[in-house]
Amino acid sequence: MRLRPFFTLTVSTLLASSATAGFAACSSTPSGDGTDAATATEVSSDTARADNELPPPPPPPPPPSDAQSDAPVDARGDARRDGGPEDFTAQVCSPADLLTGLAPAQPFDYLELRETLYQSIDGGFVPSSSTALASTGAPCSATADPAACNAALAAALAAFPTPIFPDVGGFRLPNARYLVVRRGGNVQVVATRADLLSFLGKIDSPADARLLVRADGYQPLCGKDSTRAVPGGYEVVAKREKQPCINQYEGFVLSVTEAGVVTQKSRVDLTDPDAGCAVPGRRPEGLLPRKGAPGEEAVARWIATMAHLEAASVPAFERLALELGAHGAPLSLVREAERAAQDEIRHTRLFTGLASKHGARLEAPVCADVDQAPRSLEAIAIENAVEGCVRETFGALLAEWQGRTALDGDLRSASREVAVDEARHAELAWAVARWVDGLLDDEARARVSLARDAAVDELRLALAETPSAALITSAGLPDAPHARALLDACATALWAA
Ligand SMILES: [Fe+2]
Ligand SMILES: [Fe+2]
Repeated sequence: MRLRPFFTLTVSTLLASSATAGFAACSSTPSGDGTDAATATEVSSDTARADNELPPPPPPPPPPSDAQSDAPVDARGDARRDGGPEDFTAQVCSPADLLTGLAPAQPFDYLELRETLYQSIDGGFVPSSSTALASTGAPCSATADPAACNAALAAALAAFPTPIFPDVGGFRLPNARYLVVRRGGNVQVVATRADLLSFLGKIDSPADARLLVRADGYQPLCGKDSTRAVPGGYEVVAKREKQPCINQYEGFVLSVTEAGVVTQKSRVDLTDPDAGCAVPGRRPEGLLPRKGAPGEEAVARWIATMAHLEAASVPAFERLALELGAHGAPLSLVREAERAAQDEIRHTRLFTGLASKHGARLEAPVCADVDQAPRSLEAIAIENAVEGCVRETFGALLAEWQGRTALDGDLRSASREVAVDEARHAELAWAVARWVDGLLDDEARARVSLARDAAVDELRLALAETPSAALITSAGLPDAPHARALLDACATALWAA
């Protein structure tokens, strides 16, 4: 990573320059001092915009016209197929669903779908935990020789060859899913597509088709009509997560032939503009996404996501403090990381209170079970580059923006409070980066730089969707052009290669 040796984060400076650039690029944004009639009548004394140099947020996007509803697909999931609407609202098949109704080439006694999680250590991936997600058939305890059966299973798992990384969001742990099949005393691992085709034989059941598309990186749906027989095979309705915003999907109708050839028959963008993209700060290794609740109102959902991510930042900073101490970092860095953890506790309380006020469902952050021993300097540097130098730096900028533009008084003052702390957290991230940079060799430094660049690219993609009108006005989230301008300001000033 190329670091600016005397860099000091100046969010206000960045914000001022990005605002100028962004508004110049956005023709739909009202100009002037923000007191146009439409806005002025809507702003009560309680929600009056702060007195600053920024114009108000852009007007809400127009509702879709009737003409759009006749298009082959629309952006909310009602893809039309042969004149009928496609249902993308059905549940994604659970692991147990995937094992139900299979018609394999040969019968089996026991089948298990397993997942092994990996963590990054010294530039490579090593297994951190392995669990059975679902199983069907007779377990070893039902056999004549359970000990031999268990030994065969253990040997098969130990021999598990090469991890297959599915197409998932960049911050999650890499993981490998595979099948373990037992026929009598013979145990086999199905870990590649070729293995799976040989296990399934002819694709001659809906479950066969669903399992195959899952292996190809799609999430098949298990609704009433989500899989149907067609001449020569099946059609499967499936989703695939779009990188990198969690809970944003593309939908597909997939054609699966009896020979196992999977092709996309149609595709639809299922992006939910109400989801917004919360970027509040540092995430701990292995953080699982918030599940959310069906029908959550957009602003309530965004606040609950913020509360979730703020809570997740607490252990992230606690671990950073411990790891900095373990590697002999300057005491000032350790103390700042500890202070940041305390800040995040305050942020969590702040957003938890707001979430309750908005009737949002609160969820405690859940992380995959990963080894908490201090990681290598390179692993720390990569996480710091992604979570701190990129995300917290941008998060600080975003919070300051929201502190100036949110029309909801509570959210505006919360954003202002958070912005001050997040700017300090961003400063800490860059200070950690400077310290660790001097301890890495050229190759490791290059890998850190690559990770940082990838995180910027992911953020750019995540911000490409304009949030809903409610999020722009109430929470002050920028629309896509303004978000891009903020990001460009960061990229120019901080992340320039
Ligand atoms: Fe933070
Ligand atoms: Fe925070």
